[in-house]
Amino acid sequence: MEKKNKLRTLTEPFKIKMVEPLKVTTEEYREEALKEAGYNPFLLRSKDVFIDFLTDSGTGAMSDQQWSGIMMGDESYAGSRSWEHLEAVVMDLTGMPYVLPTHQGRAAERILYSILGGTGKVFISNTHFDTTRANIEYTGSTAIDILCEEGSDNQADLRFKGNIHLDKLKELIAQNGKENIAAVIMTVTNNSSGGQPVSMENIKETRKICDANGILLVMDACRIAENSYFIRHRESGYEHHSYKQIAQEILSYADAFVMSSKKDGLVNMGGLLTLRDEALSIKCKNMLIISEGFTTYGGLSGRDMEALAIGLQEVFDDDYLHYRIRSTAYLGEHLRAKGIPVVWPIGGHAVYVDAKQLYKNIPIHQYPGQALVCDLYIKGGIRCVEVGSVMFGKYDEKGALIPAANELVRLAIPRRVYTQSHIDFVLDIFDDILELKDRSTGYEITYEPPFLRHFTAKLKPIV
Ligand code: F0G
Repeated sequence: MEKKNKLRTLTEPFKIKMVEPLKVTTEEYREEALKEAGYNPFLLRSKDVFIDFLTDSGTGAMSDQQWSGIMMGDESYAGSRSWEHLEAVVMDLTGMPYVLPTHQGRAAERILYSILGGTGKVFISNTHFDTTRANIEYTGSTAIDILCEEGSDNQADLRFKGNIHLDKLKELIAQNGKENIAAVIMTVTNNSSGGQPVSMENIKETRKICDANGILLVMDACRIAENSYFIRHRESGYEHHSYKQIAQEILSYADAFVMSSKKDGLVNMGGLLTLRDEALSIKCKNMLIISEGFTTYGGLSGRDMEALAIGLQEVFDDDYLHYRIRSTAYLGEHLRAKGIPVVWPIGGHAVYVDAKQLYKNIPIHQYPGQALVCDLYIKGGIRCVEVGSVMFGKYDEKGALIPAANELVRLAIPRRVYTQSHIDFVLDIFDDILELKDRSTGYEITYEPPFLRHFTAKLKPIV
């Protein structure tokens, strides 16, 4: 693994042309704001947040080239110049002839999976992202995750912990019957499993299994540039490939590509669906017209398509990707050096802290992850999200909590937004966390909706 450069200063390969002021607040102010938000950071106002690590989706900064593109956007309803630009860039990247623009990733998912899915169908993935699973289950299909074994060990120092479990894939196809498998979906990088990468070898083997059984392979690849970085630096044979060549090879094994462009598209809004098969593309285009917009803009304005066409090229720049992956690792490696338990190795877009290990005095049913999320906000105005039993917990018939597999907190890093001094500030706040962790209190839920409770639940500290 990349041993050199560890813990070294990393200089941003850009300079700042426009600034967005951040409000500096006091601890008392933040205590009040958090109380008003029911101790749920999703309900905070962003103006009360100093460092926003809630998500890396749609929160990045565009370049001067992209902003110039915004001015050049062609807003014609049909056949716009900006569409032609985007289509050419996406065809070159994917090698696929049918390109559908959507307003964000889940719209592409809804279109594709509503056509492929239905009662009795099965989708298999290394790990389905929440919206992917929801769109599949909404059609009456089943979504099954089969992460490779090493992926569930938070500490194993291995290169590709986002891989799919190939033996289980074969078993599942045999058990369910190949005619019932609607698709295999590869999520690269594997967001719900620590942002860990998938190897080219694993993708190629999956392709072989799909070919042997006549099954469609879909790449859910909103972080494909980040995954390409890991392949070049961790998988032999790719040292001299460009990041774009690696991404092109990944996509060459796919029948379809679904992308939330809000990540590696380097834009604030947008999505893509691309296909190899004409008959499937006609069905998808019909759905696109009904629910998103005409085929040459989907859910996007001309200026959005222009900015995306430029972003999809910028993202493969050597200096940018090195900065991106190393700066995420900088935060994770420094946290680990301080003794904060983090999911290891550090993934591409986020650092995941193991709150169960850190807040040993808080029992699981008092949500240690939420306690850390609240402490980070109160101490530093840092907003992040619990990925544990608040998000995934269920209840048994007696109303007792069935906890999630892990109690993690995700610090997702927006692209090109924060400088190293912001990150150093976050590291300082973790010193405060280490100091207060044994005195910190747990939380109880006072209100929760029936589905996806973490977005709107209200909690209160147990004192
Ligand atoms: N697939 C993956 C792997 C994702 O990470 C996301 C979004 C989507 C699909 C859906 O795309 O939001 O544009 O509709 N992930 C965000 C996150 C929300 O915070 O990880 P979308």
